[in-house]
Amino acid sequence: MDASTRLADLRQATRSDHQSVDDMVMEMAPFDSRENYGRFLRLQYIFHKAMLPLYRAEDLNQLMPELAARSRYDAVSMDLADLGCDAPDHRSRDEIPQTGMARIGWLYVCEGSSLGAAFLFKAAAGIGLGADFGARHLAAHTDGRGRHWREFVDQVNGLALGSNDDEMLRDGACAAFAFFRNLLMAEASGVTNRDSQG
Ligand code: HEM
Repeated sequence: MDASTRLADLRQATRSDHQSVDDMVMEMAPFDSRENYGRFLRLQYIFHKAMLPLYRAEDLNQLMPELAARSRYDAVSMDLADLGCDAPDHRSRDEIPQTGMARIGWLYVCEGSSLGAAFLFKAAAGIGLGADFGARHLAAHTDGRGRHWREFVDQVNGLALGSNDDEMLRDGACAAFAFFRNLLMAEASGVTNRDSQG
């Protein structure tokens, strides 16, 4: 595959996955109240915590310098603390690849979510949350949201990958959206904190 279209390909391959996640988040009405926001925040915490080993993976940091610094786990943890929410106890390591190129598809989903976060961040202001309290993980990076994202895009597009790797990236991205969708479904049926562990 032409490396310059890798990101466009990922976007295209996951368009409907993104739409369903977007719709389900909006159904939670996360910005109607801090209580609703807290439910959304717990899902974000589970996702960013699950992603942490990928951000920290040595081999990926060699391929993509400064990857570890992109993780928003610390920010989302502080947001939970701001709101006085307990951190959910959710073990998700088994569901997430710990080796291979599929991990870059997962990272695409996590990094891309910081783009849509621009809209969520504005909405969060309506319930008194912002970059210093409660919505830290939705705030723009100090380099600028667009610039920070384009650096990631350039890194991913610039990777010299093997013949099957692009398929693995796509599979990883779809799996990451499915992971988040499952969290949303569990939340909607009220089991995120109880039965979905392990
Ligand atoms: C209500 C919730 C959401 C809304 C309204 C939303 C909205 C958006 C918007 C408008 C963009 C495009 C931004 C731009 O091009 O400047 C975007 C990009 C993206 N979002 Fe979301 N999003 C939501 C939730 C999520 C979640 C939960 C995830 C991941 C689990 C996610 C993953 C992505 C990805 C990967 C992209 C990058 C697409 C690309 O350009 O390749 N989004 N989102």
